[in-house]
Amino acid sequence: MAEITLTNLRKTFGAVVAVKDFSLHIADHEFVVLVGPSGCGKSTTLRMIAGLEDITGGTISIGDRVVNGLQPKDRDIAMVFQNYALYQHMSVYDNLAFGLRNRRVAEAKIDAAVRSAARILSIEPLLERRPRQLSGGQQQRVALGRCIVRNPKVFLFDEPLSNLDAQLRAQMRLEIKELRLRVPTTSVFVTHDQVEAMTLGDRIVVMKDGLMQQVGSPLELYRRPLNRFVASFIGSPAMNFIDMAVTAAADSFALSANGIAIELPQRRFAGLGAHAGRTVTMGVRPQHMRLGPANGGEHVGFGGNLMVTEQLGDEQVLAVRIGEADIRVAGVDPELALATGTRIDVAVPLENLHLFDTTSGAAIR
Ligand SMILES: Nc1ncnc2c1ncn2[C@@H]1O[C@H](COP(=O)(O)OP(=O)(O)O)[C@@H](O)[C@H]1O
Ligand SMILES: [Mg+2]
Repeated sequence: MAEITLTNLRKTFGAVVAVKDFSLHIADHEFVVLVGPSGCGKSTTLRMIAGLEDITGGTISIGDRVVNGLQPKDRDIAMVFQNYALYQHMSVYDNLAFGLRNRRVAEAKIDAAVRSAARILSIEPLLERRPRQLSGGQQQRVALGRCIVRNPKVFLFDEPLSNLDAQLRAQMRLEIKELRLRVPTTSVFVTHDQVEAMTLGDRIVVMKDGLMQQVGSPLELYRRPLNRFVASFIGSPAMNFIDMAVTAAADSFALSANGIAIELPQRRFAGLGAHAGRTVTMGVRPQHMRLGPANGGEHVGFGGNLMVTEQLGDEQVLAVRIGEADIRVAGVDPELALATGTRIDVAVPLENLHLFDTTSGAAIR
């Protein structure tokens, strides 16, 4: 068993609070991704789990042991870094064998582990080479191999794909997923890239300023973001936001801003009651808008003037100005020829509207 339990983890560097209060239970074999902008405390959290950083407060358990006081080497974890951290003067074979030799494991056993890892990662033909004779992707595979041979309880990854070009990153994502099928070790993976988080994680932890913002499956985060930050961070192109004034009518709420006015049934949007007479922020994903007028009560409609289009081949993304707001509309027919200034009307299903408290950013439910 290798579940991980983090309880009220906290880390300060002098006056800087890197991690404020982090609690999470990670199940055996689970793959959890920590994602957030640079400086939000991802690496610090990971390094505390690894034992590379003293903790200021809280408890870390791996399996059924509290590991707070244990040295990194005694925690039964293996870590992959962005810069691979391979020994340049050693062959790939010796890099893979290094950890086990340090532990005085018998050479025959080491050889079996090294060859098995090399087979899993398709690096058998590279075993006699030095790291500098390898491509970035191959070096990253060796770094993964070094973890596999140790057969640890936990894998920790700190932005392992960030040094690779976009194409190789996409390929290594698939390889890491395949690796999980063969080596289903409990893993914590840190990245600033929401696509990596969405595609790799069983669960994702979104962080900002040393605080967890939301924990959930990729679909939960996409469909039901708890606040505006998560809503804007997950999904690409990013969610559109428009600040709107709320007034209550007989059985609806009217939301309006410069160039846009919509009505929402009170039954479905009861949470808006507390915001009547104030401003809320409406969020709509670019993918959830369809060109054309809103038909029937299950949609709202609004529109503006086309500013520019981005042609992606399989779709166009339109930038549309509504009053002072610029919004994006994705999934538009790439063949559609649209001139700047054209009036663009869009319809959005009610179920795809997100509403946030403009001051706190919290989702209004
Ligand atoms: N050794 C350190 N000394 C002082 N401040 C640090 C140290 N390591 C990290 N920090 C600060 O802690 C915060 C979180 O850093 P980090 O965990 O590396 O963020 P991330 O990995 O999310 O980019 C940042 O403000 C960073 O500057
Ligand atoms: Mg980092």
